[in-house]
Amino acid sequence: MGKKFYEMTREERLAFVREQAGLSGEEAASFGQPLAYESAGRMVENAVGIMSLPLGIATNFLINGVERLVPMAIEEPSVIAAASKAAKIAKAKGGFTATAGRSLMIGQVQVVRLSKIDAARRKVLAKKKELLAIANSKSKSVSAVDVQARVVKDASRNRMGKMLVVELVIDTKDAMGANAVNTMCEAIAPKVEEMTGGSVVLKILSNYATMRMVKCSAVFDREELGGKEMVERILYAHALAHSDPYRAVTHNKGVMNGVDAVALATGQDFRAIEAGAHAYAARDGTYRSLTKWWRTKTGDLAGEIELPLAVGIVGGVANVHPTAKTALKVLGVKSAQELAMAIAAAGLAQNLAAIRALASEGIQKGHMRLHARNIAVMAGARGGEVERVADRIADDGQVNVERAKEVLSSIRK
Ligand code: MEV
Repeated sequence: MGKKFYEMTREERLAFVREQAGLSGEEAASFGQPLAYESAGRMVENAVGIMSLPLGIATNFLINGVERLVPMAIEEPSVIAAASKAAKIAKAKGGFTATAGRSLMIGQVQVVRLSKIDAARRKVLAKKKELLAIANSKSKSVSAVDVQARVVKDASRNRMGKMLVVELVIDTKDAMGANAVNTMCEAIAPKVEEMTGGSVVLKILSNYATMRMVKCSAVFDREELGGKEMVERILYAHALAHSDPYRAVTHNKGVMNGVDAVALATGQDFRAIEAGAHAYAARDGTYRSLTKWWRTKTGDLAGEIELPLAVGIVGGVANVHPTAKTALKVLGVKSAQELAMAIAAAGLAQNLAAIRALASEGIQKGHMRLHARNIAVMAGARGGEVERVADRIADDGQVNVERAKEVLSSIRK
């Protein structure tokens, strides 16, 4: 049998990924390379450089019957290995099963200073078609499919009164869609003012993409997890995350380790994803776990994640950042839905790995072993010295720079 992915050198890994994903020489050469400064200068203002992150590949992901190499950009040790391990356990029971709905985004137009707010609302709804026509004149690639309108009352101490929120529902297809949604909202604003007699203030998409949900589940074999007791302990971990926001936030941080890492690697707006995910976690008024875990009839562990995910494979950074472009090719997704499902699978896998470790030996042992390599480098270790120093300080349980320096000088002697 050939080497496992994690046993390969970087060159071997790149060659493997290149072959699997059918990358061109140029794509393979630029994969994982920092962005060119010229591109950075075009993307943001006052650019001075590039902030880069490690890019790795999580393996063993079988999603809806398709094997996928999952690119992850993250600075934290253990995450990629943990996702790969959890995906391997899931694979034995058929992998991840996922579904994702249409790419429906909501764009909000806020109308204030309305004396007859209910009449204004009815007028807007009666003239939906007119608004949709204006919105749709702005884009050939995405389409506004509905208009809804809600009355919202200011709940702040300023008491600004009632306002009408006119919402465009837009199918952004394979794009995340922020630009198209914002353009359409701005385009209908004058007509909304004319129809209602009010003043429009905000015209912007909602990052709470509740019409763009993704769901992903998997079954994890009891014995592979460590037996009946382990399954029970994971259910206790879930119980706390479901019932206590202080634990739920940390639990969901683990989920987002997976979600954000794939989102970053593929050039998605991870702040939008984060904001939407956490709002969804608090949808019933209490902040809860984004994942659910339960015991199956056969005593195995089943898990499910559900969250709003506004992601795209066309437009945005995914099209201009060469590494993100190649990462999408490596992941092999052909639609925004497939990308969302892969991201959700990474979140679920990551969560399982974290709570399994926490419910058994804890995460520090593995974490410190990896962190020891950074400490060894900080102490001055180079080349083969890094592993030797890291192993020694991790074995001693003394992962600090002073100890690493002592070990380094004893090795050099
Ligand atoms: C660390 O980055 C993530 C964890 O804290 C997640 C969790 O507690 O479930 C390990």
